[in-house]
Formats: sequence, C-alpha cells, structure tokens
Amino acid sequence: MGSIKVLGLSGNVKQPSRTASVVRSVVTAVEQHFSIEGRVIELVDAAPILFRALRADQLDQAGRDIIDAVEAADILVVGSPVYRASYTGALKHLFDLVDFRALTGKRVILAATGGTPLHGLMTEHQLRPLFGFFNALTVPTAIYATESDFTGHALTSAAVAERINRAVSELIQLFPNADVSTRIAHTNLHPETV
Ligand SMILES: Cc1cc2nc3c(=O)[nH]c(=O)nc-3n(C[C@H](O)[C@H](O)[C@H](O)COP(=O)(O)O)c2cc1C
Repeated sequence: MGSIKVLGLSGNVKQPSRTASVVRSVVTAVEQHFSIEGRVIELVDAAPILFRALRADQLDQAGRDIIDAVEAADILVVGSPVYRASYTGALKHLFDLVDFRALTGKRVILAATGGTPLHGLMTEHQLRPLFGFFNALTVPTAIYATESDFTGHALTSAAVAERINRAVSELIQLFPNADVSTRIAHTNLHPETV
C-alpha cells in the first residue's frame, strides 16, 4: 500500500478557530504515528469556493480540488463547531458535494467544539450518522471541547488530549493489515441512483 493520506476538515466559519485547533492537534497525532504529513482544510477558506457550486457538476477547478482531496484521503479528521445543535451548514455543503461512494471504508475521527457541555453529543447524533451514510468507519471515541479547554484558541486541556490519544489508538486498530483499499459494493438501490 502507498503512503496513507490524512486530511483534517474543520467546519469553522471564522478565524481564529478553536475547532481548527482541535482538528490540527488530532492530525498532528495521526501524522506522528504514521510518519506522514497531513493537511487541514478549514471551511472558512473552502466554503466561499464550494458555495459557487450548488451541485457537484457545477464545481470549478478550485472546488473540484477540495472535493478530490476529501475523496482521496484514507483518514479523515472531521471537526465542527456546534451551530444550532449541529455541525455547520458550510461543512454539510462540502459533504453534499462528495460522491456517495467515495468515503466507503475510510477511517474517520470525529471532533467538535461548543459553547456548552450540554451539546457534547452532537458528534453522536449529527456527525456520526453522516459517516454512517457514507459507509465510513468512525472510531468510537469522539472529541469534544468547550471554551475552558483552551487558552485563547490553543487547546490546553489534558483531558481532551487524553481523548485524542484514545481516538488515535482506536484508529490504529482499524489498520490491522494496513489495507485501506476495501470497498463495499453499493447496490443501485442507493437513494442517489433511484
Ligand atoms: C451561529 C452560532 C451558533 C452556535 N450554536 C451553538 C449550539 O447550538 N451549541 C453550543 O454548544 N454552542 C453553540 N455555539 C458556540 C460555538 O459552538 C463555540 O463558540 C465554538 O467553540 C466556536 O468554534 P470556532 O472557534 O471553531 O468557531 C454557536 C455559535 C454560533 C456563532
């Protein structure tokens, strides 16, 4: 197998961003384990490009490049600020442009930041089902952080760092034979084909 590709996607729509800080921390932990170099895309940069298209067939080259990077990744680290009890609309738009077959079997770590601990299950009720749709493999431990976990916008919580380590350990277990090429066949009963 060739080199594993890791891509961080952060749904933040402003900068500086606590969510981007969490996503970068997770990507760094993955990079260290696999001795690879990853990349992080923030929706604050990507959304103005992606919203020039309402459908995948309307993407210009810059938009296509972003979606291609998502579809080509082996590991995705997907984080979002909680907005209105869900992930941001900008992040949803990106995933509406991703081919419904493209994320099958990809390994995914989920993360979020919010204003209140009460919305910590957004990762379970909103983000995880999105990757269920895509037949992707999300690791069990999701990462959630609130303002008190940061100094400014830098993540400084030992408890959150511990969850990141746990999520990365789980990710490693999803690479038993370092084979990321498994593809589950889709039937033509998929909602986008009927
Ligand atoms: C439009 C908007 C909606 C928000 N909705 C929620 C919410 O439903 N629940 C919550 O816990 N925090 C909510 N927040 C707070 C953000 O999730 C929180 O400040 C987050 O850490 C910001 O991340 P960022 O620094 O990456 O932009 C909201 C913030 C904004 C601006």
